[in-house]
Amino acid sequence: MTAPKKLFIKTYGCQMNVYDSERMAESLGGQGYVATDTPDDADMILLNTCHIRERAAEKIYSELGRYKVLKAANPDLRIGVAGCVAQAEGAEIMRRQPIVDLVVGPQSYHRLPELEAKARSGKRALDTDFPTEDKFEVLRQRPKSKRGPTAFLTVQEGCDKFCAFCVVPYTRGAEMSRPANRVLEEARNLVERGVREITLLGQNVNAYHGAGEGGDWSLARLIWALNDVDGLERIRFTTSHPNDMADDLIEAHADCPKLMPYLHLPVQSGSDRILKRMNRAHTADSYLRLIDRLRAARPDIIMSGDFIVGFPEETETDFQATLDLIDAVGYGSAYTFKYSTRPGTPAAERPQVDEAVKDERLQRLQALVARQQRATQDSMIGRDVTVLFERAGRQPGQMVGKSEYLHAVHVTGADLSPGRLARVRITESSTNSLAGTVFPSDDAV
Ligand code: SAH
Ligand code: SF4
Ligand code: F3S
Repeated sequence: MTAPKKLFIKTYGCQMNVYDSERMAESLGGQGYVATDTPDDADMILLNTCHIRERAAEKIYSELGRYKVLKAANPDLRIGVAGCVAQAEGAEIMRRQPIVDLVVGPQSYHRLPELEAKARSGKRALDTDFPTEDKFEVLRQRPKSKRGPTAFLTVQEGCDKFCAFCVVPYTRGAEMSRPANRVLEEARNLVERGVREITLLGQNVNAYHGAGEGGDWSLARLIWALNDVDGLERIRFTTSHPNDMADDLIEAHADCPKLMPYLHLPVQSGSDRILKRMNRAHTADSYLRLIDRLRAARPDIIMSGDFIVGFPEETETDFQATLDLIDAVGYGSAYTFKYSTRPGTPAAERPQVDEAVKDERLQRLQALVARQQRATQDSMIGRDVTVLFERAGRQPGQMVGKSEYLHAVHVTGADLSPGRLARVRITESSTNSLAGTVFPSDDAV
């Protein structure tokens, strides 16, 4: 028997890349690869890349530069680039970095075994097609290996919305949804392997419309079907677009026991003028009304969002409208970005905001968001939450898990293994986490 080859995968970008990296590792597992957590002794290095902002893409070239010495020391090492940078500039990567043997776009992962074989034989392999066959079908494996208590599951991919700043419709292609029975089958497999919480993924996950019994299923219908899967305790989904927040999904937040009270709902800006220029097809007011409805359905729901500052032509008044919107919503957390010019997108051609102005706005935005995040966390003190424990913490005897509101919660001195759910009374709040004590009489949920 030949020794297994070692595979090192480094993942950048969104959760969908995390999911894709797991699928690629499984697929190359069939070619005799086992995972390693360092590039130094790898036979194959795969970078699963993100193209969303300029810096994300540039990081890839500097990372590849570092692998030159490894390649010089080991001519059998194969280096691959996957993900959204591969899709956007695959041929350019091949040109700029001669050490790259293999480039594979996000829709062609199922062809990895062939591409790997080609690269092994000494030829360079590039595949950035949007193939007609369904990669999910080809990659449909039923692994039996044990897993941690939480998992991602991609149910929808691609985007047809074409926000003026965004590369996703170009790198991930047109929107598609996986059939409901395939999602359910995969979810059951995950649960059999120890998973208790599943986060459904899609660039526009709430636009889900997968084929199911009796016609296309909405995301809410899928969530209700998952709610019936024994052993699955929690359901989350991300990322949603405000315009696809259907009535049945809002109702699910009121009624579906396993759906968690946390929602990531990016709005990007609070200025209607900018939202229009972004091609977002919603207004600040329609977004605020949506949040009112969500809170009427589930009063304790915690909101999170994404914001871009310094979008072309953004004035101080526009930016102030964003701060006002954040004030009105009260976010539990938010991701804030400086606008980054992406070649090929409509906004790249427009008059740009000065870098120093962007920096200054980002700081003000981040300060506001940090205050709200802290206030949300502090409001948990004295409250009882349910925590799904995931792993040991840094301190002896400490375990870390997530509350239903996605706060990291630390508990010390209780007998809790990963995968356990327990009621915890929150006693402390620090920058990025909470601490609490397990209810002695009621620790098994
Ligand atoms: N599909 C999701 C998010 C996709 S990308 C949605 O529609 O909300 C994740 C986040 O990156 C976006 O929400 C946006 O805030 C940010 N982003 C995307 N393109 C960007 C760009 N060119 N510059 C800065 N931030 C960007
Ligand atoms: Fe990008 Fe807009 Fe699609 Fe989100 S909805 S992935 S921001 S184009
Ligand atoms: Fe990045 Fe592609 Fe995800 S650009 S954010 S890895 S969809």
